[in-house]
Amino acid sequence: MHSPFVMTIFGATGDLMRAKLMPALFGLFKQGSLPQDFFIFGFSRREITDQEFYELFPKLNTDPMWGDFIKHLHYQQGTFEDPAGYKELIKKLAAIDEKIGACVTRLFYLATPPDNYEIILDNLKSTKLAEGCGQGSNKWTRIVIEKPFGKNLETAIHLDKKLSDIFEEKQIFRVDHYLGKENVQNMLAFRFANGIFEPVWNNTYIDHIQVTISEKNGIGTRGKFFDGVGNLRDVAQNHLLQLVAAVTMEQPKSFMKEDVRDARAHAIQAITCIEPEKVSEHVVRGQYQSYADEKNVDLGSDTETFVAMKFFMDTPRMKNIPIYARAGKKMKEDVVEISIVFTQTCHVLFKEYGCPEIGNVITIRIQPDEGIRMRFIAKKPGSKLSLEPVEMKFSYQEGFGSRGIDAYEKILLDILNGEQILFNRTDELMSSWKFITTILHGWEKYNPKLVIYEDGSWGPREADDLIKKDGRRWI
Ligand code: BG6
Repeated sequence: MHSPFVMTIFGATGDLMRAKLMPALFGLFKQGSLPQDFFIFGFSRREITDQEFYELFPKLNTDPMWGDFIKHLHYQQGTFEDPAGYKELIKKLAAIDEKIGACVTRLFYLATPPDNYEIILDNLKSTKLAEGCGQGSNKWTRIVIEKPFGKNLETAIHLDKKLSDIFEEKQIFRVDHYLGKENVQNMLAFRFANGIFEPVWNNTYIDHIQVTISEKNGIGTRGKFFDGVGNLRDVAQNHLLQLVAAVTMEQPKSFMKEDVRDARAHAIQAITCIEPEKVSEHVVRGQYQSYADEKNVDLGSDTETFVAMKFFMDTPRMKNIPIYARAGKKMKEDVVEISIVFTQTCHVLFKEYGCPEIGNVITIRIQPDEGIRMRFIAKKPGSKLSLEPVEMKFSYQEGFGSRGIDAYEKILLDILNGEQILFNRTDELMSSWKFITTILHGWEKYNPKLVIYEDGSWGPREADDLIKKDGRRWI
């Protein structure tokens, strides 16, 4: 159980709040993981009452415990630009401190589109909200900032500077909720607590790595946000690269916060930038067919909803291993997976018995059905020798009777505990932006074709060609 807290969520009527934050907060409440005294303030520009605010969550408000939960939930109307709303909030937060008889920890959660971050930070500073109740001391406040953190390297540096002018590093929580996914966290244990994987987890044995983030949904009601951002910034800069880091990083010196963050940051730093003139060859940008019909999307928009790329990493362990990574919306399936494909070394003795084209593969299923599959070659039953690939499977649900904690619940718990391991540090963010910004430059300069793919498909044919031309295929 944690000490009392007040969490102010900016952008409380938005999609992130509806889809992830509120369900996670309510989930933690139902599990008894929140303290007796906690206060959540939704801050948004919409002029609505507390009651109308509660009704924004129809999937939750039929739950019998919702009635108890909303006693902790309040709405604060305000525009992000105008200090008036912030001043109202100050009064309410001061009243809470008085009621509790202590400086209650204040958490400010920026769940708005990134264009609003600067103005909110400015107002948190100028109204002294950032300083907490013992004004002049920032001991009691934390800032939580969602991705995308900036629009490119330059804006990310600028935003980070603004953040660090107001808050100390220990107060800053830069969220990438993929780091909170159970099987992403499991990667350290899987790779380094088992003696059998580490010796082959390198360029002597690995042929290539594939990472896929495939989503069945399109952009839904998020057109206004998404059309100015695109999937490269929305998903690849953060979630996709974090998955790559999870399977390529070195063993951290310890499980202390900075050692784990160091290992992650070194992995991302080691990703070799795709030079602008090579971007057309190594990066595919696609858009699903019905994108133009989506709400709040510019006429003739060329925003990408799919990206696939091939790149390398410059570490002794990973050098020369091609990494193929793709992320797309309106795809055939909801699946997030990483596959480590090992070099096929079917012994010469077996050649005439039909060596499968792909031999050993370790597939880490991030969602759904979190688990790990291992493909190997077996003798087909029967009197004759004949070979076929088979799979061994581990599923979190079957193995532990639970799929583990929801990523946002984990992220929120860590924020409440002040635990920063699963949050991005400046250096890892800047390295990922450097990589992504180089691609953006390539797109600007050479304007490669945006390829249209069928809704409900596995993305454009060009993404298949990207890997096929190396004699490989998506698993
Ligand atoms: C978010 C992106 O960060 O992650 C969304 O903004 C994306 O576009 C979502 O749909 C995917 O998260 P999850 O947890 O549903 O895989």
